[in-house]
Amino acid sequence: MTTYAVTGATGHLGRIVVAELLARGVPATDVVALVRTPEKATDLGVPVRRADYSDPTTLPAALAGVDVLLLVSGNELGKRAAQHTAVIEAATAAGVRRVGYTSIAAADRSANPLAPEHKATEEALQASGLPFTLLRDNWYLENYTAQLPQYLAQGEVLGLDGTARIGAATRADMAGAIAATLLDDAAAGATYELSGPPVTLSELAAAITDVTGTKVAYRDVTAGELSAVLRGAGLDDATAGFVVSLEESVARGDLDVRSDDLERLLGRPATTLVDALRAA
Ligand SMILES: NC(=O)c1ccc[n+]([C@@H]2O[C@H](COP(=O)([O-])OP(=O)(O)OC[C@H]3O[C@@H](n4cnc5c(N)ncnc54)[C@H](OP(=O)(O)O)[C@@H]3O)[C@@H](O)[C@H]2O)c1
Repeated sequence: MTTYAVTGATGHLGRIVVAELLARGVPATDVVALVRTPEKATDLGVPVRRADYSDPTTLPAALAGVDVLLLVSGNELGKRAAQHTAVIEAATAAGVRRVGYTSIAAADRSANPLAPEHKATEEALQASGLPFTLLRDNWYLENYTAQLPQYLAQGEVLGLDGTARIGAATRADMAGAIAATLLDDAAAGATYELSGPPVTLSELAAAITDVTGTKVAYRDVTAGELSAVLRGAGLDDATAGFVVSLEESVARGDLDVRSDDLERLLGRPATTLVDALRAA
């Protein structure tokens, strides 16, 4: 018997990974949801334990008896390298056999502003001596499909370079691929680039037009113009600056990672942009 544990199991990705493990035949009693907020975990259908990356005292009991751990990266920017390192240290102490970690596309060489914390976590795994599997997630397609109402209301998609390619994929596809690696001990030591077929923001606008029948155009703007639009929509200066830095990363091609890892792990083609828009 192997006991699987998934952190961040109350988050969007983590809860789909739990569901994928169950769908692939793992008994619910062999899956543990490790969560910061147990009240949010009542519908997961598996045992729940409290695990707060920022409170290492919660981690030994949470990880007791766990064989394979998925560490879903946290969402508190700036704190994550220390938080993830605490989980890795606790996993080592608890005798976890293998850790999967949800990193970022091309973490070891990406200039994306989110990459340094992921790179630091990858290095902490390397230093731990634990067998590990790197799951380098590209952008979620949901980053775009969730904005469908705004795109339709504004009639446009704004970006810094409409030709830059983004290897985005749905969370569900990523979760399926991740679950496959958790179930396969041969994934120890492997690095997977979980990228879908690349799309551009121009193609996003065209696909929205096709799927909805409402004309949505792509428009190139400068970083300064984008910042002004975001601040006009109510974002504070720091948040607007951060969002612009992410768009600069897209424009530079940091998310243009080509890999068939996702589709190989899924054993089928990735969900297309058009299908993701239809579902949204
Ligand atoms: N590839 C992309 O496009 C993209 C986009 C956004 C985020 N991400 C990264 O991918 C991760 C998973 O994505 P997601 O969509 O599932 O994000 P999400 O819905 O925000 O889920 C994040 C999960 O991390 C948990 N968490 C945060 N801080 C924690 C802590 N101190 N201790 C324990 N758990 C903690 C949250 O717990 P609570 O439920 O208690 O809040 C939540 O369950 C994100 O956390 C982020 O690192 C990637």
